[in-house]
Amino acid sequence: MASFDIIKENIHKGKYPRLGSGSGRVVFDLNNGYVIKAAKNRRGIAQNKAECVIAKNDRSSMFAKIIDASKDYHFVIMEKADRVQSISIVWRYYKVKNNRELSGLDPFKKICSRHDLLMSDLYRRMNWGLVKGKPVIIDYGFTKETKKLY
Ligand SMILES: Nc1ncnc2c1ncn2[C@@H]1O[C@H](COP(=O)(O)OP(=O)(O)O)[C@@H](O)[C@H]1O
Ligand SMILES: [Mg+2]
Repeated sequence: MASFDIIKENIHKGKYPRLGSGSGRVVFDLNNGYVIKAAKNRRGIAQNKAECVIAKNDRSSMFAKIIDASKDYHFVIMEKADRVQSISIVWRYYKVKNNRELSGLDPFKKICSRHDLLMSDLYRRMNWGLVKGKPVIIDYGFTKETKKLY
């Protein structure tokens, strides 16, 4: 397991560049091809946990991989992805013209039902990133369940 104590210390020292933040988490670049997603609140912890469950059960390889998490789910370590400038990058990859067509694709219907995700969350470029040039979902902790809770 990664030493989350050392990572925590490094975050406080400002050693890792901050890549972004959302409602539940702040994300730093570990400078080794991975990012650390640090929960800011209870919702962030629930999102980290949900992402771990999905990553573990995933058969689609449509999600950025998680390689480690702290026991309390305060932290997860995920593959670093490059920014997706426009959702049309995702459309192009899946050879569709718009989000309506995207939502009709089998792999999308499958991951949404399997992991309890809302299709509409996959329409936004911010939830996507590029790993080795392939679009993958980077923010997938927002299941219907975590949405209901917080
Ligand atoms: N795997 C990643 N690689 C690169 N940047 C990321 C990654 N995951 C998240 N980010 C950046 O951090 C921001 C917040 O992460 P996100 O997963 O959206 O947290 P939240 O669930 O709080 O919205 C994202 O908008 C994105 O800019
Ligand atoms: Mg987000």
